Amino acid sequence: MLIELKNNKQLLVRLLTGTDHDKLTHYLLQLSPETKKRFEPHPFDKAAVSHFYQDNPFNHGYIAEDTSDGSIAAYAIIRLGYLEHDGDRLRSFGFIPGHFTDATYAPSVADYCQSLGIGYHLLQFIEKELKIMGRKRIILWGGVQQGNEKAISHYLKNGFTVLGEFQYNGPNYDMVKTIG
Ligand SMILES: CC(C)(COP(=O)(O)OP(=O)(O)OC[C@H]1O[C@@H](n2cnc3c(N)ncnc32)[C@H](O)[C@@H]1OP(=O)(O)O)[C@@H](O)C(=O)NCCC(=O)NCCS
Repeated sequence: MLIELKNNKQLLVRLLTGTDHDKLTHYLLQLSPETKKRFEPHPFDKAAVSHFYQDNPFNHGYIAEDTSDGSIAAYAIIRLGYLEHDGDRLRSFGFIPGHFTDATYAPSVADYCQSLGIGYHLLQFIEKELKIMGRKRIILWGGVQQGNEKAISHYLKNGFTVLGEFQYNGPNYDMVKTIG
């Protein structure tokens, strides 16, 4: 899917493939320390990226690629189903997660491109794909840190609601969005 940003930049949103791993590693390494510590589904070296996708067929990567030079401006991960180690916590909020109904989401946008609407477009694209796969809800990967105001505001604007709070390296929220 092609998208055009407020600053006229054109991006192609698409599924990540194995041949993207080099440039994905480059993208991950240039993120600021703040963004890095908020996006932690896997380590940032190429071997870890390759293992992450080879070892679990339920992990899917998505990228937004700058059409002018092919560089990656944003990267998001979907795990079909929910994270087992978050299951008890999610159930403690009265939410019953399902491996066939839910998907787990972790987005990141390059620092120089944040707040331009890329996160919105990425989510739109992924939601359409998830609906085709019959998924009904999107759960945040490991929740969101309560100090991450930009992300919380982004999620609330995009239809996520707070399920509950938990402590992990400080206070966090679990959030979920119903998509079908
Ligand atoms: C969270 C993130 C994925 C959102 O993507 P994005 O492309 O920056 O967000 P969008 O441009 O689509 O949405 C912008 C919205 O976020 C919110 N936002 C943006 N900048 C903000 C700021 N400085 N303070 C508070 N809210 C802000 C606003 O609600 C804004 O909507 P508006 O522009 O209509 O007012 C991205 O900022 C990011 O990668 N952050 C660092 C990593 C991270 O936190 N990942 C999520 C971990 S749970």
